[in-house]
Amino acid sequence: MDSTSPFITEPLLDKSALSLDAVEVVYPDGTIGLRATSLRFAPGDFVVLLGPSGAGKSTLLRSLNGLVRTTSGTIDVAGIGDIRPRRALRRHRQRCAMVFQQHQLIGRLTTLQNVLTGRLSYHSTLRSLWPLPLADKRIALDCLDRVGLLDCALRRVDELSGGQQQRVGIARALAQQPQIMLADEPVASLDPATSIRVLGLIHSICKADGITAIVSLHQVDLARRFADRVVGIGAGSVVFDGPPDRLDDAALSAIYGAGAAPAAGERTDPAGVAGEAARESDHHPLQAVA
Ligand SMILES: Nc1ncnc2c1ncn2[C@@H]1O[C@H](COP(=O)(O)OP(=O)(O)OP(=O)(O)O)[C@@H](O)[C@H]1O
Ligand SMILES: [Mg+2]
Repeated sequence: MDSTSPFITEPLLDKSALSLDAVEVVYPDGTIGLRATSLRFAPGDFVVLLGPSGAGKSTLLRSLNGLVRTTSGTIDVAGIGDIRPRRALRRHRQRCAMVFQQHQLIGRLTTLQNVLTGRLSYHSTLRSLWPLPLADKRIALDCLDRVGLLDCALRRVDELSGGQQQRVGIARALAQQPQIMLADEPVASLDPATSIRVLGLIHSICKADGITAIVSLHQVDLARRFADRVVGIGAGSVVFDGPPDRLDDAALSAIYGAGAAPAAGERTDPAGVAGEAARESDHHPLQAVA
């Protein structure tokens, strides 16, 4: 990161919920996913990642919960420390929820059963083969209530609309009782009005529960509306870091390249959704509890 850049004003933090120190990701085929990146995230902050398609937003998010292996550098989580050791990663994943663009729900199961999968990491593999305890069902029902879907608890999840399914995905994440929520383009498949409602829901829940949220988006207007802090990624590096009111034309050019900055309300990756969905299908959330 170029700390002399006028677009980078890293906040001074007393303590962080999560921090990266010189984290680099090189994929097995040699592609650089993320160049040496150092960032600290304040507890309870709602941080939005912006950047053009292929910039490294998903790579960064996935490295934060171990879905992508880092090549060098360290990721530290409050109360856990370095997440590389297996036990530390398990503990981190228990309290670090992930919301995906394509929900990653199990279509033939009910809404409630899907939300209950958010509780699996609290049980041994063997225990989770039996019905989960009543206490877990209460937590799951409470989470469904918070996203306004209690009425749909016993419906098959594949009967729900896209917006409802994403709310189930949020309820499942909440059922983990997370301290950190990572969301990779959580509203990319939704229409603009539903996008505002669903992102607003994520935002209000994270604020109410003090959850640190890191959310990648392609909509600059939504970043302006909800973010406490925006981190702009370009070609694997942080090129902007600051409050959303500093996202002027010059900053957008730094993130998206001169002349490529999106107009208000415009998505920045019209072609990117399908590719992202294809890659997401490699990562079922149940992998995270294995
Ligand atoms: N599994 C993989 N193997 C090899 N290269 C990968 C893999 N996943 C991502 N990449 C590459 O790493 C770089 C960063 O990709 P990443 O998916 O993190 O970008 P992104 O900012 O999330 O893009 P989008 O907005 O399209 O989702 C790109 O060059 C991409 O092609
Ligand atoms: Mg992505």
